[in-house]
Amino acid sequence: MATTPRKILVTSALPYANGSIHLGHLLEHIQTDIWTRFQRMRGHQCFSVCADDAHGTPVMLKAQELGITPEQMVEQTRAEHHQDLLDFFVEYDNYYVTHSDENRELCERVYQRLDDAGYITKRTISQLYDPEKNMFLPDRFVKGTCPNCGAEDQNGDSCDVCSATYSPTEMKDPRSVVSGATPILKDSEHYFFDLPQFEDMLKAWLRSGAIQQEMANKLEEWFEQGLQQWDISRDAPYFGFEIPGAPNKFFYVWVDAPVGYMASFLNYCAANNIDFDSFWNADSDAELYHFIGKDITYFHCLFWPAMLEGAGFRKPTGVNVHGFVTVNGAKMSKSRGTFIKARTYLEHLNPEYLRYYFASKLSDNVTDIDLNFEDFSQKVNADLVGKVVNIASRCAGFIGKRFDGKLSSNILDQELLSAFHNAADSIASHFESRQYHKAIREIMALADRANQFIDAQAPWVTVKDESKQQLTHDVCSLGINLFRILMVYLKPVLPKLAEQAEGFLNDTLTWDSAQTVLRDHDINKFKAMMQRVDMDKVNAMIEDSKESLEATPKIDPNSPLAKDPIAETIEFADFAKVDLRIAKIAKAEHVEGADKLLRLELDLGGETRQVFAGIKSAYSPEQLQGKLTVMVANLAPRKMRFGLSEGMVLAAGPGGQDLWILEPHEGAQPGMKVK
Ligand code: 2FM
Ligand code: ZN
Repeated sequence: MATTPRKILVTSALPYANGSIHLGHLLEHIQTDIWTRFQRMRGHQCFSVCADDAHGTPVMLKAQELGITPEQMVEQTRAEHHQDLLDFFVEYDNYYVTHSDENRELCERVYQRLDDAGYITKRTISQLYDPEKNMFLPDRFVKGTCPNCGAEDQNGDSCDVCSATYSPTEMKDPRSVVSGATPILKDSEHYFFDLPQFEDMLKAWLRSGAIQQEMANKLEEWFEQGLQQWDISRDAPYFGFEIPGAPNKFFYVWVDAPVGYMASFLNYCAANNIDFDSFWNADSDAELYHFIGKDITYFHCLFWPAMLEGAGFRKPTGVNVHGFVTVNGAKMSKSRGTFIKARTYLEHLNPEYLRYYFASKLSDNVTDIDLNFEDFSQKVNADLVGKVVNIASRCAGFIGKRFDGKLSSNILDQELLSAFHNAADSIASHFESRQYHKAIREIMALADRANQFIDAQAPWVTVKDESKQQLTHDVCSLGINLFRILMVYLKPVLPKLAEQAEGFLNDTLTWDSAQTVLRDHDINKFKAMMQRVDMDKVNAMIEDSKESLEATPKIDPNSPLAKDPIAETIEFADFAKVDLRIAKIAKAEHVEGADKLLRLELDLGGETRQVFAGIKSAYSPEQLQGKLTVMVANLAPRKMRFGLSEGMVLAAGPGGQDLWILEPHEGAQPGMKVK
């Protein structure tokens, strides 16, 4: 146990109030909750707060769409989010909302101090404006043609096809996502926060170990590009807080969101008589940690510490960045049913399965975490059901039936027990440094030892021998004690299972309980604590998460689709990467030694490509010469036995004689893009 209790405040990123909590959020909230529970078990004063992130254009527009006020929508969503998290046993001291009086006051205070200190400047900028909706358009509400590669239907700030980033004013044929109107350029005065003035402070803060090395390196790149002034105002209509002294100008949501951490805590302090200032003053002796995903590092490691410093508050002790969640090796996808909402999960599976699985994979780095459902079920079943709970269930029956529900006063294997006691510091240091996977590995190694001990002693055999009753009692009692220590270590991860264990053990588990033994102690009747993961339920959850745009059509059993189903859905961006061109077959010839291949020379109207195509069964070379075909022009060249193939021709049909390619017709020109 650490000597002096620490004062700690922990936050998770505030979920936006216009969507549901899903697996991606849960990784972070579970990570935070485990850390917080661990600190509390260790006797530290550790508060945790979160809130819904209420402001901004998307929330405003979604509420309009639903025909309710943003305040109503935000309150409904906040309550839903909070319940989802509670049902995963994620318990914040306060789960508030950024649209609150406390937040408004704190934002005004921060802004006033920044302005007084000379960190706020104003200048007029020109932005796209929706003349039908009478509103300025944030980048993601403008779509159009990429100025770099010409791909259509790209977002206002970046292109999914060529990855170029640009300003929406540079797009070709921009249109408003809100109304479909062509945006116009309109001037407006904006307020800026002078971030470059904080460069030295930020560099020193980053060097102080406040953030993982790999993220600090990434931030170095941003310094190299040069820090920019940050636009912190948005024009009406905007759901947010009006900037004091600037009618119709609102704080950009990313200004009031992190201040929302403070506001949620302030609201909690007021109700619980806690000294807010001692956590936030510049000379605070408390520790402050933000848990966030890697996509919002910029906001938390540049803007936020600079705002705090400029406004005379303390800076975070640490910003703990994690990676994204992938499911079965791929980005979560609505069509594949892997974009799983918290509520859908809860309708099918035990929340502690997920807490355990994430814990078994979480570390202090920003690598993405893959939730593979085979692995998930195997790990939960093998570790929790097969190892940990099994220890108790193997021993409890004998204690209940043979020994009156009382544990023995002897310790049969002191060495084994000591190994369990002694693991406490190492496991604690893994939790402290967010190396949860290492903590879990160590706990499971202990669970293996406990099971090996029980296997070797075989109490189900000795119990039948009258002369071995004491031995049976001692074996089962030690088994129960080992289970108890494992549950102490697992309690931050599995609070519900630990609560059930406490009921069974007739004991309250603190971190220090791992150093003690229950002797001559009455325990309660053992009840099943955890079911195995049922893959049918996993599959039902995935099925329920599938969002198809249309009902799935019934497939005719004679259709080729019945034998050869359509492959997994790809995103438009994937498809758009395929560059299809009209090509003229300038030359076609047999390839010596090849049964199916013809060698084609394709004229793209300026470039000639050699392609080996498997269409010999359908066409003779003479039939092809002079015809047009469609080719994939950007396929990486492949070295084949007969030479380099620099693309692929597209032909349709069942094969054999019936394979169709294009007849030349007016209008199609070699090199033309196929759309
Ligand atoms: O990225 C997001 O989901 C934001 N709503 C997180 C805000 S965190 C904080 F700064 F408030
Ligand atoms: Zn592009």
